[in-house]
Amino acid sequence: MIVSLVGMPGSGKSTVGRHLARQLGLRFVDSDAEIERRLGQTIRDYFAEHGEDAFRDLEQRVIAELTQADGCVLATGGGAVLRPANRDALHARTQVFYLRSTPEELFRRLRHDTQRPLLQVADPQRRLREMFRDRDPLYRRCAHFVVETNRPSVPALIGMVLMQL
Ligand code: S3P
Repeated sequence: MIVSLVGMPGSGKSTVGRHLARQLGLRFVDSDAEIERRLGQTIRDYFAEHGEDAFRDLEQRVIAELTQADGCVLATGGGAVLRPANRDALHARTQVFYLRSTPEELFRRLRHDTQRPLLQVADPQRRLREMFRDRDPLYRRCAHFVVETNRPSVPALIGMVLMQL
């Protein structure tokens, strides 16, 4: 079994994923961390040098690989669903949970972030709102289950995911 988590930056994919993997006795894999390990460079630096398209190509290759390996919880980068190939691979080969939060809550969590290249803009709150508007339908299309993450605690979220498996 592969359980994968999709959602906006700051929706809790890595935190929930790590706890969930421990509870299920599965390996935890984070596609961003795997990309950074292969690059030997942060995603922020890679974006600055090579641009978003090059990053998306790399992300697609990594997700294609990671969705083959069985027995893990996979946290994906927030933009993974932008590529139809990623949505298809995730939906076909894994149980996909969309961790859904409002842009207001995401901004509250990410307002001091310096690592996410797409949020290093003059008005990150507006950027988050636009990203959410564009991506919410894509996350929904990719996911088997939607979990609202605005209010519940991490243990409550994990309970909700476990109930669906
Ligand atoms: C991105 C989200 C990041 C990372 C990259 C692009 C996005 O992952 O993959 O900076 O397009 O939303 P997180 O969702 O883990 O922040």
